[in-house]
Amino acid sequence: MKTTTNCNRRKFLKYAAIGIAGAVTYPSWTQAAGKFTRVNTPSDDFLPDVEIELTMNTADVAILNGEKTRVWKVTGKVITGDSNILDNNEGTYLAPTLRFKKGQKVRMILNNDLPAQSILHWHGLHVPANMDGNPMYAINRGETYIYEFEILNRAGTYFYHAHTHGVTARQVYSGLAGLLLVSDDQEHALHLPSGDHDVPLVIQDRSFDGQNQLVYSASMMQRMQGFLGDRILVNGRPDFVLPVATRAYRLRLVNGSNSRIYKLAWDDGTPMTVIGVDGGLLEKPEQHAYVMMAPGQRRELWVDFSERTVGAELTLRSLQFDIDMHGGMMGHGMMGHRRGMMGGMMSVSTLPSGSDYPILKIRVAKKEQGDNTLPKALTPITELQTKNAANANNPKTITLSMEHMSALLNGRSYKMDDIQPDEIIPVNSLQLIEFDNGFDGGMHGMMMDMPHPMHLHGEQFQIVKREVSAHVTDNYATVSAGLIDGGWQDTVLVMPGEKVTILKPFNDFKGLFMYHCHNLEHEDMGMMRDFLIK
Ligand code: C2O
Ligand code: CU
Ligand code: CU
Repeated sequence: MKTTTNCNRRKFLKYAAIGIAGAVTYPSWTQAAGKFTRVNTPSDDFLPDVEIELTMNTADVAILNGEKTRVWKVTGKVITGDSNILDNNEGTYLAPTLRFKKGQKVRMILNNDLPAQSILHWHGLHVPANMDGNPMYAINRGETYIYEFEILNRAGTYFYHAHTHGVTARQVYSGLAGLLLVSDDQEHALHLPSGDHDVPLVIQDRSFDGQNQLVYSASMMQRMQGFLGDRILVNGRPDFVLPVATRAYRLRLVNGSNSRIYKLAWDDGTPMTVIGVDGGLLEKPEQHAYVMMAPGQRRELWVDFSERTVGAELTLRSLQFDIDMHGGMMGHGMMGHRRGMMGGMMSVSTLPSGSDYPILKIRVAKKEQGDNTLPKALTPITELQTKNAANANNPKTITLSMEHMSALLNGRSYKMDDIQPDEIIPVNSLQLIEFDNGFDGGMHGMMMDMPHPMHLHGEQFQIVKREVSAHVTDNYATVSAGLIDGGWQDTVLVMPGEKVTILKPFNDFKGLFMYHCHNLEHEDMGMMRDFLIK
């Protein structure tokens, strides 16, 4: 990291806190703000319904009492379209919330005014390869990348975030992530709670130092486990309280954390009514005692507060669960050593993963009459059939492993432009893919068992089945009732000792589409590869 010599301690602290976010830093004279060089050009035959300019910059926002926090902030401006499609979430590090309709043609003009390279990726959207924010498209300070695509996705809660080679975790942690909500006619016809009664809730964990600056420590141990902050923030705010009226709400939960997995439940035992997942609404509402959410996942809840009294409170908690991360060492005579090592890793956060802690509080603030009926059926979903997969009898296996301080897919680490024969997929084909995380003794030697939220770029997929090894069933039982596997998904949690099979369509677009672990520290450690669709 480069630093200037004449900065005072205060400035240095701020710089140090944020300097972690980029491997490459540029002197400030590189480019004056507002003057950006385009690395690609808008196309003449693309007529946008919506045109938005997004600028990434540093900003100081008031998160905690006292000193402001230096963050990396995306600020947006609508150039063409209704001004209410964009909300800058001012005063927080969250990137603007963008609201699009299915079928809209969108142009986004991304300016980089950060002291580092960066690029944004539209998580969950089905867009052309060169519009997808692959790290190879990262732009320098003073440069502009122009995205043009049509919103092909169905209504749902999508999001976007930095996807910069080797520093995605640091950049997302510093603030480079925001919501992208898509609506469509099918969803509209259901008359779900809308407007003030449709509330996105981005859940993240952060750590702050004594000067209120973000702390990101990337020791090898913390990267192996994934960074865990010691405070929960919701929509960029600590101690989040949501005031509600006595009626039904739609809550769109997004796990925007780097590595933290949540087991969410209402503290009074009310079942969670799940209506949507990554790729939009389910076929029908489902009730679960708790809902698991891995990094990158979205889960939509329907909650009715009409029976509650004004002044009543309800807390959303993350409940205790077990992941035996040294399970892979069983029977290899190394358990004592591994346990000691994992013990050290568990203590990296004062808020350990799998412990019991509050996420947010809901306070019933006023009486209000609303339409509180939950539709029995939501949206029809055509079930993909294994027999229609191009490789129906020959699933593409992706083994997940962590060993020798690296995180690998099929034993490989991420490399740009390194397509192997088994990573080539014919366009317009349906593929059967299995993620093997040490299923039935697949682990060996010095490997470490970890849960891995596996994400694939491009089209949403469906989960076909889960297979669990006998030696992990006790731990698995502490999470399994909260895995919501229906509907369309783009990120699936693969637990230690488990194999998950999915069916994924690769339609319309040729080129490179990534698949990776959405534990962002694992991703940066190399647990990421490209598929070449051709
Ligand atoms: Cu949300 Cu490739 O990532
Ligand atoms: Cu993605
Ligand atoms: Cu992982």
